[in-house]
Amino acid sequence: MNVPDIPAHVAVIMDGNGRWAKQRTLPRQAGHRAGVKTARRIVEACARRGVGVLTLFAFSSENWRRPSREVGALMRLFVEALDRQVDELHGNGVRLMFIGDRSGLSDTLQARMTAAEETTRDNTRLTLVIALAYGGRWDIVAATRALAREVATGRLDPEAIDDAMFADRLALAGLPDPDLLIRTGGDHRISNFLLWNLAYAECWFTDRLWPDFDEQDLDKALDRFRGVERRYGRISEQLEDALEDDAC
Ligand code: IPE
Ligand code: IPE
Ligand code: MG
Repeated sequence: MNVPDIPAHVAVIMDGNGRWAKQRTLPRQAGHRAGVKTARRIVEACARRGVGVLTLFAFSSENWRRPSREVGALMRLFVEALDRQVDELHGNGVRLMFIGDRSGLSDTLQARMTAAEETTRDNTRLTLVIALAYGGRWDIVAATRALAREVATGRLDPEAIDDAMFADRLALAGLPDPDLLIRTGGDHRISNFLLWNLAYAECWFTDRLWPDFDEQDLDKALDRFRGVERRYGRISEQLEDALEDDAC
């Protein structure tokens, strides 16, 4: 069994922007701006380290509950970040994808997202997935609805539904599950992120606030991943047997 050194897919809950700003007596919005800069640096750092897919949680389906001022500022920041960064990301071989319920987003933002996906679709150095207006439960419900529609039309036998078929209807269809989940900001929870896909992810939590997260922190998380034994329900001895088989 081949144990890779670098995770194929890293997922990040970028938390702590508001507290970072508060510590500096700045408006929360300043924290979100600083967070965008960190995201840009971490994308490049992951690409250089050979990570294939990076999924960043930018805005959850529950974040709509925040004060409308903050939500509006965040939406404007997303448009601005795309306007400023897509060309450079494209130049660096990054493919951009968005997951989440786009129906509540402005036409302007939706247009920027589609354009970014189109422009970068053939890039292969790193796939950057931005989870925007995303919720793990929304994702599972949408997949269930898709399967139910196929059953209703008589094209699908309910008994034929299995894990793989379900995963194919989720937002991350076609991409490997995250191997490593990083959450900054000190909380130890999933906050309705990729509920299905994180089933076997290694979780790494840090108190570091997202705007302060840097390459050394990323390397700490990657080091932790390197040392871990992933058993997927088996016992250690079975993995050793598989390693010996591989060596033959
Ligand atoms: C994460 O930072 C960014 C978003 C959820 C958009 P927060 O805004 O949640 O920052 P804290 O948790 O209040 O510090
Ligand atoms: C999770 O952070 C969502 C994002 C990072 C986009 P939150 O700050 O919204 O999570 P909770 O509310 O503390 O669980
Ligand atoms: Mg938070």
